[in-house]
Amino acid sequence: MQMSSPAGRNPIDDNRQGLIGKPLDRVDGHLKVTGQATYAYEYTEAGPPLYGFVVTSTTGKGRIRNIDSRAAERLSGVKLVMTWRDMPQQGKKEVGAAPQLVDDKILHFGQPVALVVAESFEAARAGAALVQVDYEPVHGVYDLAAARPAARMPRPGLQPPDSTLGDFDQAFAGAPVRVDQTWTTPHQSHAMMEPHATLAVWHGDQLTLYTSNQMLTQAQATIAHTFLVDPSQVRVVSRYIGGGFGAKLQVQADAILAATAARRLQRPVKLALTRQQVFHVTTHRSATIQRVRLAADQHGHLLAIAHESWSGNTEGENSYEAAATQTRALYAAPDRKTAHRLSTLDLPVAAAMRAPGEAVGLLALECAMDELAEKLGLDPVELRRRNEPTQDPERHVPYSVRQLIPCMDEGARRFGWDRRKVKPGQVRDGRWLVGLGMAAAIRSNFLRPSHALARIDADGVVTVKMAMTDIGTGSYTVFTQIAAEMLGVPPHRVKMLLGDTEFPAAAGSGGSFGAASGGSAAFEACEALRQKLIALAGYDPDKAIFANGMVSDAGQSRSLASLAGAEGVEATGDIGPGETGKAFSQHAFGAHFVEVGVDTDTGEIRVRRMLSVFAAGRILNEKTARSQALGGMTFGIGAALMEDAAPDLQTGVFSNHDLAQYHVPAHADVPPLEVVFLPEVDDKANPLKIKGIGELGICGAGAAVANAVYNACGVRVRDYPVTLDKLL
Ligand code: MOS
Repeated sequence: MQMSSPAGRNPIDDNRQGLIGKPLDRVDGHLKVTGQATYAYEYTEAGPPLYGFVVTSTTGKGRIRNIDSRAAERLSGVKLVMTWRDMPQQGKKEVGAAPQLVDDKILHFGQPVALVVAESFEAARAGAALVQVDYEPVHGVYDLAAARPAARMPRPGLQPPDSTLGDFDQAFAGAPVRVDQTWTTPHQSHAMMEPHATLAVWHGDQLTLYTSNQMLTQAQATIAHTFLVDPSQVRVVSRYIGGGFGAKLQVQADAILAATAARRLQRPVKLALTRQQVFHVTTHRSATIQRVRLAADQHGHLLAIAHESWSGNTEGENSYEAAATQTRALYAAPDRKTAHRLSTLDLPVAAAMRAPGEAVGLLALECAMDELAEKLGLDPVELRRRNEPTQDPERHVPYSVRQLIPCMDEGARRFGWDRRKVKPGQVRDGRWLVGLGMAAAIRSNFLRPSHALARIDADGVVTVKMAMTDIGTGSYTVFTQIAAEMLGVPPHRVKMLLGDTEFPAAAGSGGSFGAASGGSAAFEACEALRQKLIALAGYDPDKAIFANGMVSDAGQSRSLASLAGAEGVEATGDIGPGETGKAFSQHAFGAHFVEVGVDTDTGEIRVRRMLSVFAAGRILNEKTARSQALGGMTFGIGAALMEDAAPDLQTGVFSNHDLAQYHVPAHADVPPLEVVFLPEVDDKANPLKIKGIGELGICGAGAAVANAVYNACGVRVRDYPVTLDKLL
């Protein structure tokens, strides 16, 4: 699988209908607001289901001594209580399975220990309350700082955990201006709107899961490994998803337990996690401890950069928060090092949450830059300008397109950055001290293997199918725009079918690679379909034009419907990372500018203004792209000021495990946010020349808030979230 030459001019560049970039309303918007978009828990396939309710551990690390399920089994309506003792054989985690109720070991608080299945949700829940579990708790480690001394080097993930260039220690020791500080970020929970839910249906040896998952092709493989069946025996359907943010990248207990029970009882089983269960049964983002050291000469040129990060994960897990990764590509400096270490924590599994790596890495790095600018007496924008690299400083390859400086300049101008007082605590507005802060944004750009099928039928309707997902980001809409533009038909003549593994395998939604991967596969399928239609018409491929449902060439034209004929015409398209991913350093960039007020009496922090400028390749839809940016910036405010999943250090329960106590920004916390996209076309990225935008908005956003807080009141808080008690 190779990318078709992305540099070449194509119908997306021509944009004859003007659909690319257009702020088209969501094509699925009407279905969603009228309740016609079916989410996982709402399916009614295959008759009345049984309902499952998960029983979770009420102790931290330990062992199950005994489970007494007799009272639950006697309850009217209860069909089954499943525990580790009666689970069928499951595939092992090491081979990519997601087994549940494996043995008597409790790795963390909230781990599933039983499933109660009943004729009604109420009976299942009541039965769950009657399951008596006798635990033998053992000593657990629930605090990252305490676990840090035993940290280990994790196995490489997407990137190696460490990098070094030159001699950091020597360069740092001899430098005239230095910053050496440590930041901490707390555990964070995705807090997406829709909790994990599944309806599992077996037809003989064929399993269908209606579930809420971001990456269906991967989920299909995981489930097949778990049930020791062939992937062709597993169908995963996720047509609509109420947010993921990374919490639904992996297959979770709801899917495996529902499918296990459904097979055993020969009935469909429906299972949703409660909001409270989501915090422990599924994943979260690990807390981090990050030490950043920056050294510069008197003119503000960086001589040395080091970023070391510690995070935690459950026993047997290798995934670490890659908080230092972006530091390899953001600023120039000859001597550098980055490192990631992982500690075992007896907490729920830590995994990717929105902008894994950058989201918390920039909370440290971009505040360190602010501290360095202050030491140098340099404007923070100017410091960053002076350290703009001409190529990727560690990989020594060119950037595809890098517009960090234009983002900063445009943002500074629009925001009125020149009004910022260098010295903190200088600006008052009544009881409020007012400050301005800024930070850079960077987010890696990825392209993942994806396939699509495009067809046209006698009614002139273009249908595109792929096992992609729309997690609320607008995938249905932007893919519709691509297909409509390619075939020269209006968007309402495109049927975009996603969310089903019956369709060609696709990357899914994650890592901001969804639009580029799924969109490029759709592009390639539509391009192949165009060529077939041109050949059927007997036209010149170099001259044929698709518009108004017709293909035309030198005064002749044919309707696509007539060319499709009774049989229809179809074509497939593929995309993969190809070679350009390696030859260029590919990232989306941006700059955030924030004004905060700090109450002089209470320390309360309010974000008063926020403006962010992004350069992320071509923008497919101004409205959905802006919504992604707004969501990211809001996440950034939450990371800076509120989010903190706090483990109880005796049991490892996240004490604040619901949305009343796990604080995310509410409307009243967020002022009108301004989003600007700079014109950009990245012809090294993919045929659409787009870059990922989903996670860009969060990157650096929180650091800009923290820097503004410092400018307002002169207190540097390096222990996130920046709450009022830390200012007083
Ligand atoms: Mo994202 S954390 O890859 O959904």
